[in-house]
Amino acid sequence: MSDEFKSKIQNLKSKIPNAIAIDGPAASGKTTIGRMLADYLNCLFLDTGSMYRATTLAALQNSVPIDDEPAVTTLTEQLDMDIIPVQNENDGRLYTVWLNGRDVTWELRAPAVDRHVSQVSAYKGVRQNLVQRQRSMAQRGRVVMVGRDIGTVVLPDAPVKLYIVASAEERARRRMLERRQRGLDVDHDQILADIIRRDRIDSSREHSPMRPAADALIIDTTGRSPEAVLREILALPAFQPAQARP
Ligand code: DC
Repeated sequence: MSDEFKSKIQNLKSKIPNAIAIDGPAASGKTTIGRMLADYLNCLFLDTGSMYRATTLAALQNSVPIDDEPAVTTLTEQLDMDIIPVQNENDGRLYTVWLNGRDVTWELRAPAVDRHVSQVSAYKGVRQNLVQRQRSMAQRGRVVMVGRDIGTVVLPDAPVKLYIVASAEERARRRMLERRQRGLDVDHDQILADIIRRDRIDSSREHSPMRPAADALIIDTTGRSPEAVLREILALPAFQPAQARP
């Protein structure tokens, strides 16, 4: 990114909205875009998917049956969980997740968590507890919050709402690349099928299904670089100095 572009961002910092809600399906690019936006605007970055993952990990590690909704809900209420910015770790993480006094950032990406997280995130009591935590985290300062229901449920008054999408094929390609970079096995058909399965569960669940807020801007990232998408977002009226607005 050019120096001119960076200095334009610096000048706009005082104009940035207090909350930016970003939603969208798995591997749509919302986490990458959200992280970049938070860095350039110097906001907190909160990836709420990591909280549903941490809850799922806790259930698996404590042998709480995933099908037992009341037990998973009670466990959720007891968890000590936080998301904090990266400090000295230099391992490609975008944030650090603490769960009951342990850094679980990478454990959250385990295949067992992938398999069960959609089920856990469909439980009403789990959602109520995590949404409450997310709202109180949003009070820490200006925030870019990423998830499935941020614009619709968690921060319905956020002044900027984005809904990031990409084709299922492209999302599967991105997941494959990510997994390869982490030295993991990849099976294209399996990854694509898993993405489609999670989209179906996340968008058809009874409580807070994944969908764009009525006032969200839908951005398709298929075939586009993160930088190009970031430019589009920063050109929105909400990021322009007050005198430049119509
Ligand atoms: O973004 P992710 O893949 O890390 O999300 C993991 C799961 O959590 C996904 O199945 C959807 C769910 N989720 C949710 O229901 N609500 C959110 N705000 C964030 C994630």
